Amino acid sequence: MCGIVGYIGSNTAVSVLIDGLKNLEYRGYDSAGIAMNNDSKINVYRAEGKLSNLCNVLSSSSFDEYTKGIGHIRWATHGAATLDNAHPHKSNDGSVVLVHNGIIENFKELKSELTEKGYNFFSQTDTEAAANYIDYCYKSSVSLEEGVIKAVNGLKGAFAFCIMSENEPDKIIAVRKNAPLIVGLGENENFIASDIPAIIGKVSKIIYLDDGDIATVTKDNIKVKDFAGNVVNKKVETIAFEAEAISKRGYKHFMLKEISEQSDIIRNTLAERLTGTNLPINLAGVKVEEILSKTKRIEIIACGTSLHAAMVAKNIIEAFAGIPVSIEAASEYIYRKNITDAETLVIGISQSGETADTITAIKQAKDKNSHIMVVTNREDSSIVRYADSLLPLRAGIEVSVAATKSYTAQLVSLYLFALKLAEAKKTVDNIDLRKFKQELLEIPAKLEQILSGSKSIKEIADKYYKIKDFFYIARGANVATAMEGALKLKEISYINANGYPAGELKHGPIALLDENVVVMSVLMPNSSTYDKIISNCEEAKARKAKLIAVTSSNDEYLNVLFDEIIKIPEISEELSPILANIPLQLMAYYISDNLGREIDQPRNLAKSVTVE
Ligand code: G6P
Repeated sequence: MCGIVGYIGSNTAVSVLIDGLKNLEYRGYDSAGIAMNNDSKINVYRAEGKLSNLCNVLSSSSFDEYTKGIGHIRWATHGAATLDNAHPHKSNDGSVVLVHNGIIENFKELKSELTEKGYNFFSQTDTEAAANYIDYCYKSSVSLEEGVIKAVNGLKGAFAFCIMSENEPDKIIAVRKNAPLIVGLGENENFIASDIPAIIGKVSKIIYLDDGDIATVTKDNIKVKDFAGNVVNKKVETIAFEAEAISKRGYKHFMLKEISEQSDIIRNTLAERLTGTNLPINLAGVKVEEILSKTKRIEIIACGTSLHAAMVAKNIIEAFAGIPVSIEAASEYIYRKNITDAETLVIGISQSGETADTITAIKQAKDKNSHIMVVTNREDSSIVRYADSLLPLRAGIEVSVAATKSYTAQLVSLYLFALKLAEAKKTVDNIDLRKFKQELLEIPAKLEQILSGSKSIKEIADKYYKIKDFFYIARGANVATAMEGALKLKEISYINANGYPAGELKHGPIALLDENVVVMSVLMPNSSTYDKIISNCEEAKARKAKLIAVTSSNDEYLNVLFDEIIKIPEISEELSPILANIPLQLMAYYISDNLGREIDQPRNLAKSVTVE
């Protein structure tokens, strides 16, 4: 979602702000803006669209004397992606300038109250209501800090703010409620950011603000209070990531880099947890005994790609551990009467750990005394605070909006968990357990094998990239692979792509098939549904659809049936979703690259969606 950065120090603010925003571009690109303070006035510069447009606006001026500033990259929620709606927003008389991530739920009420008091509004945003409301409270306070404290108590919703005022130019006030914000500690300079990449390489010490924190940041001091005005002591932590983590390392796009690094990522995900086939799986942080002592059922809650990982997890946990599992999109779970209770293990899967729907769902489950297990790539994220058990992905920072390496790491982590349950419950016999462990240990090498064949996948993409409709079909755990493959393609290419259980094709979607449609199917030879899916592909072929297979099968007949075959190494059907997804990531990437799409920043999407 939106990205925020703030700087206060002795150096020129503009380069710090622009560098920070560049590293946050995956959070939104509807507009960008900065406000800079030179101790006598605050100047605001904004531009519609990408950050590069803002850079063009700034290019003709020099900003050497501006050593404080705030910046914003917007993913539009309230109000279209226009210049008027771009942040920073100012109060009417310009005395309060702020950037905001989140949603002010009571902005309409505030707007009409403030209009009655004589305030005017020039945008459609909720943020402008916050700027004027803070200004209104500030006018009856002795300091900006006191004004902000008064104001935040009257705001409903989610908000991370960086606030400046010309009247008190020596400070930036940072506020966090249900939207992430950190403060970076430098020498005679301090930073504020909505995520670590914005300040990576600039500082190594940070303070994670918690919900309800208000930080008054000057160039040599940070004072944190709660919404009641009480001083709060904060822990200073060290950034766990290297600057290298957010570099493209020569790849054309972050997505390709992240796809390509997956074998190393999985080695990392497996390290110390699975060290041999005769040794138990070790998931430090997951309270397996406690879970098994009270769990009657499991609910997995997630969004987007993480929801597809949940689909795979349902299949394998039920197959390996015999525990009933239901999965649900977080946005659905939170608005219905559910049956979550203290005997339910609730697993929240979130790459970013900041997805608002997933966090709300997890909070609700926590209130019902469920054991909460969080599977996330960001141990420093908001969702982690609700975790009774934690399963980190160890995939490193993922910059591309389209999730790739984090999905593979989610799958491997969830396989480890499912096998750990099976090990503890003895629901899989030792021979099979050893076989699955061996297969997991071989995953990195097999991923390398697939990635080394990416040239032939590119050739297939080159042939089909102009097709406007793609269907992805599979059965069993690979239904998730089909849905994830389709999601990846539509996210970054804008081609209409849909994933289905193969048997469902004939119940509607088949009406759309003709020679202008590609049907991608995932079929594993050792599967009990192999013949069934072949029949489904025959049905598609009879309607003249182009057929592409992802398979480990050597069946000669496939050469007759399919237009193209993408081979993956042999693997059991149970673990095949880990490998089968990789060619689909590459297909989506190469098709989109051929179409000239902005792959790392697809339109309308954001890496982490911090509003419900
Ligand atoms: C956004 C991203 C998706 C992601 C989803 C869930 O929509 O664009 O790629 O799968 O959020 O994100 P999470 O961080 O919770 O896994």
